[in-house]
Amino acid sequence: MNVAIMGYGTIGSGVAEILEKNQEQIIRSAGQDVALKYVLDLRDFPDSPVADKVIHDFKIIEEDADVQVVVETMGGLNPSYPFVKACLLAGKHVVTSNKALVAAHGTELLEIARKKQLNFLFEASVGGGIPIIRPLYRCLAGEEIREITGILNGTTNYILTKMDKEGASFENALKEAQALGYAEQNPEADVEGHDTCRKIAILTAMAAGREVDYQEIHTEGITRITDMDFRYADKLGASVKLFGTSRIDGGKAQACVVPVMTGKAHPLYAVSDVYNGILVKGNMLGTSMFYGSGAGKLPTASAVVADIIEAVQNQDHNVPMGWTGEKLSIGSMDEMEYRYFVRVSGHQAESEAQVTQRFGSAEFLSLDGADEFAFLTGKMKEADFKEKAIAFDAPFQTAHKKGILQMIRAEL
Ligand code: HSE
Repeated sequence: MNVAIMGYGTIGSGVAEILEKNQEQIIRSAGQDVALKYVLDLRDFPDSPVADKVIHDFKIIEEDADVQVVVETMGGLNPSYPFVKACLLAGKHVVTSNKALVAAHGTELLEIARKKQLNFLFEASVGGGIPIIRPLYRCLAGEEIREITGILNGTTNYILTKMDKEGASFENALKEAQALGYAEQNPEADVEGHDTCRKIAILTAMAAGREVDYQEIHTEGITRITDMDFRYADKLGASVKLFGTSRIDGGKAQACVVPVMTGKAHPLYAVSDVYNGILVKGNMLGTSMFYGSGAGKLPTASAVVADIIEAVQNQDHNVPMGWTGEKLSIGSMDEMEYRYFVRVSGHQAESEAQVTQRFGSAEFLSLDGADEFAFLTGKMKEADFKEKAIAFDAPFQTAHKKGILQMIRAEL
């Protein structure tokens, strides 16, 4: 089997490296030789091991019947979308690491692959090197998946861990993550939660077998999380993590991407640095957790190579997986239920009565020398919390005082 790689960046070059270094293992698994024939990129790489394979014209891949598997590691939608579609239409299996592509055009690309008895595979698009897509369509194929909660972005998890454990600034931690090759080309995609949003959309669609419009998923990033939040979290023996969550019930789901204050008892608490962790709850299975390197060159490339082998092993037929065009409706964020961690300006003694009057019994927290305090509510629906928070905040606003400084959902 001949393979072409489109995009010789961090992941693409990792795929070429693994095809070379693990050649014997790959032949054993695939049952035949898997040879890299072309590397498509705008640039030349004269000093690299693939120097003689670099091409600049996509048509060479599209029109070469000897290329049976195409790897897309360019990222973005243009030209990856038209190129991937053209490859499938030309009868080639496609493997991608590109969650933006899968989240935006997965339904159509899966449909083409099905019609043409090909495979469109995207293990590397979620969780980096963690096997999660294949477990969903093979190992958990008989389960009704009810809930998925994941730390799905290595960059933000790295940043939050540095802020938590080392008191690092957001900016410095982001720079380190970028230098280590974890971040997306545009860091906004990581820190504003868009990358996690696409990943939870893909996992939800995989679990439900229906199309998910990622734009319907309420998404918040981590840019508003501060060192003060971590000081309170520390008092609670907790940390702040960016969770992508979906709860599926028949043809409907609730889903969101939000920072969550979470304690040591939560299975995802210990997932630190660039690692990702994904909890899957099935109706028969109960809970299962997937853990590993969520970003980075070789872990992600390893998942791409596993998909190449899956394509080679199933070269004559389409493996049933993915989702159809039938839509899974995503409910409003107002229906999600959490506890809420809230920071308020001023002193606890002045406002404690109003807190309990509005929110019911709450757990209070204060920091030495700080002109503010915090409280943790009981569990309630987001809509209830919003209504109570507006009513609580109103007197502060009337008096031109600060009032609520921060709100973080909590699973404690
Ligand atoms: N930027 C992504 C992350 C890369 O940090 O998780 C892996 O998808």
